[in-house]
Amino acid sequence: MIESQAVHVVITGASSGIGEALAREYLSRGASLTLVARRRANLESVAGEAPGRCHVVEADLADWRRAADWVDGAVAALGPVDVLVNNAGIQVVRRTVDTAFEDGERQIFLNTLAPLRLTTRLLPDMIARGRGTVVDIASMAGIAPTPGMLFYNASKAGLAAASESLRGELRRTGVHVMTVYPGPVRTPMETAGRAAYVETAASRWLTPTGDPRVLARKIADGVASSRARIVYPGVYGLSRHFPNLTRWVLDRFTPAVKALPAGEAR
Ligand SMILES: NC(=O)c1ccc[n+]([C@@H]2O[C@H](COP(=O)([O-])OP(=O)(O)OC[C@H]3O[C@@H](n4cnc5c(N)ncnc54)[C@H](OP(=O)(O)O)[C@@H]3O)[C@@H](O)[C@H]2O)c1
Repeated sequence: MIESQAVHVVITGASSGIGEALAREYLSRGASLTLVARRRANLESVAGEAPGRCHVVEADLADWRRAADWVDGAVAALGPVDVLVNNAGIQVVRRTVDTAFEDGERQIFLNTLAPLRLTTRLLPDMIARGRGTVVDIASMAGIAPTPGMLFYNASKAGLAAASESLRGELRRTGVHVMTVYPGPVRTPMETAGRAAYVETAASRWLTPTGDPRVLARKIADGVASSRARIVYPGVYGLSRHFPNLTRWVLDRFTPAVKALPAGEAR
């Protein structure tokens, strides 16, 4: 069990949405934070709320081979990492035929390979210390992949599978892994994703949408109590228990992805 006070929490993608909400949640619990993303100004604005307790790292994690280059600096600034939150992600909602392969592979690089790079970089130290938590922000897309997100679904299913398996592997090491499956949660990513589909009554009714601050609280509580996984909003947990029904609903009711306007490049 990891209490939040005086721990070093690393949050990737802390400049927006769920990561930003989680940063504020941990600051309110007294933690020290390393905040990682590309938009330094956004990170510094969060860091400014708790002077002396944040280390800001501007990094493009899609360059996954170098995704852990900043770790030594973060450890020098705030001490060993107690909690790693692999949260940074991108999503492209687009017809597969309209998706440039480079945009697809970037999702795999950032959403899957960068978290695996960071986890494997930090794991030996956590095991040696006999404590630590890795939090992987996967997605319901890893359980119930939605048509229109070919690469995103693959990237999140890959991260979720790795995350779930690592937890068992680490039993009795003192290191814990928590896998998080957000359904729709109100953030810039969710707004853009929703806008890419033709709006239908069914899509409005079938997609209850959560609040990033509520999810952030659940994640910090989950780390403190060593939960295996979080599904939020909770109603989406039904998909884990009724996968065939979920598949049928998704295939039947997912609205069409809007076509790109004529002339727009892939
Ligand atoms: N919101 C949802 O409905 C939902 C549902 C399921 C799963 N998720 C997952 O939750 C996580 C957070 O998403 P969100 O909804 O909070 O989205 P968001 O508001 O768009 O935030 C995404 C974060 O990822 C960072 N990021 C993007 N590209 C990056 C790069 N190349 N290098 C480093 N950081 C990068 C962004 O920072 P910069 O742009 O500053 O780099 C930003 O801080 C993602 O992994 C997403 O897949 C979200």
